[in-house]
Amino acid sequence: MALTAITLLCFAALLPFPGLGGKEHSGELDMVLVKVDVTNKFTNNFVSYSTNVTEGMPMFGVLNKLQDTQSFRFTYSINKSYGIFLESVNGLAGSTANKTYWELLSKKGKTITRLNVGIGCYQPKKNEIFIMNYTTWG
Ligand SMILES: *[C@@H]1O[C@H](CO)[C@@H](O)[C@H](O)[C@H]1NC(C)=O
Ligand SMILES: *[C@@H]1O[C@H](CO)[C@@H](O)[C@H](O)[C@H]1NC(C)=O
Ligand SMILES: *[C@@H]1O[C@H](CO)[C@@H](O)[C@H](O)[C@H]1NC(C)=O
Ligand SMILES: *[C@@H]1O[C@H](CO)[C@@H](O)[C@H](O)[C@H]1NC(C)=O
Repeated sequence: MALTAITLLCFAALLPFPGLGGKEHSGELDMVLVKVDVTNKFTNNFVSYSTNVTEGMPMFGVLNKLQDTQSFRFTYSINKSYGIFLESVNGLAGSTANKTYWELLSKKGKTITRLNVGIGCYQPKKNEIFIMNYTTWG
């Protein structure tokens, strides 16, 4: 129930809705190849995953698909106000005490940008690499 509400909220916030962008409602959805790089400079770990999903699927769905079909693992919590918060990736969680967190970035061509929405809302595009980078703040 909670998930449904969050998903709807995200779609509302991301108008125009993917299906209403002038594409014909043929019932056929485009597939997107999504690449997910998990990097941790401190342990020298780099793992790359990829999967095909229907266009418009939020990152949350992509990560669940990777978890169901590959060795990728993640955990999350649901914040009643802000939706889905990523907590850990492949067994490693961010820590307030250690000032560590999973930074979410998107790479298109050579340009890397930090995401301004969470995994519950973010919809990856074609030819884009989604980076989960274990990093520190402060
Ligand atoms: C994604 O789909 C393309 C085209 O059908 C295919 O060549 C590729 O192997 C698929 N990749 C994955 C990771 O499923
Ligand atoms: C939701 O996140 C906000 C901002 O980080 C935080 O202040 C708030 O306590 C969180 N609420 C819950 C229920 O975790
Ligand atoms: C904080 O960092 C230390 C040293 O790397 C580590 O042993 C500890 O498990 C970390 N704490 C948390 C909560 O991640
Ligand atoms: C990932 O985090 C490391 C450590 O903080 C940082 O040096 C590196 O620039 C980050 N990578 C990206 C792509 O921002």
